[in-house]
Amino acid sequence: MQSLDIHVHLLPRICSPVDFSGEVAVVIDILRATTTITTALANGANSVHVVQEVPEALALADQLEPGTFLLGGERHGEKIDRFDLDNSPLAYTPDVVSGKEIIFTTTNGTRAMAHCRMAKQIYLGSFNNISAIVNRLRTESPKEVHILCAGTDSLITHEDVLFAGALCEQLGAPADNVEPGNDTAKLAHDTWRAHSQTPEQFYRALCHSRGGANLVKLGFEADIQRAAEQDLYEIVPIYDPETGKITA
Ligand code: MLT
Repeated sequence: MQSLDIHVHLLPRICSPVDFSGEVAVVIDILRATTTITTALANGANSVHVVQEVPEALALADQLEPGTFLLGGERHGEKIDRFDLDNSPLAYTPDVVSGKEIIFTTTNGTRAMAHCRMAKQIYLGSFNNISAIVNRLRTESPKEVHILCAGTDSLITHEDVLFAGALCEQLGAPADNVEPGNDTAKLAHDTWRAHSQTPEQFYRALCHSRGGANLVKLGFEADIQRAAEQDLYEIVPIYDPETGKITA
């Protein structure tokens, strides 16, 4: 692999869409949007159509043939009125999503995807597909990769930083040909090393993160357990900002 500069952006609001211009981006919202979208596609959904607002989702649904789609996502972590599914990866089982288009909106994750719209390629990462992401980046061998953490309620959240650090680690940083391109990548990498000594320590860090604590409060701890599982799926979801669709 040629030399790779890894840039980590901790939140959409502290970087510009221009930072991603012509680059390869990996968007992460571990709890839970990118974990859930990866699950939906791995379980046979045709595509996930991302929109930012609830009325936009309902208007899109009105144009589609009944039975061909499902409405999924969350506001304040909970299912949206008139939607079929919430944002729990456990709800997106093969019998529910297979062959369906999912119209999807969440508070932070779907916004982070749109923030990368100037990138030449936008991948969605989660612990559930981390090796698939690493393999794709190794195969494509870009000069730079820009990892964008979605955050929670516009604030930095530990679980996304942990994943960014895990990706730095698995891509081989620090190594002669893999360099954290900014100090935020070094911070993320250090954070991952500090909190991944044992699976228990890693899981505790997820539960005590901003996004994790919200989910525990809402009774979604099983989602955190699922999000912590590495390499459940071999797929790499790709977001096309022109169509708004994510496919694998
Ligand atoms: C989001 O996009 O804000 C999150 O995925 C929220 C959630 O945990 O449902």
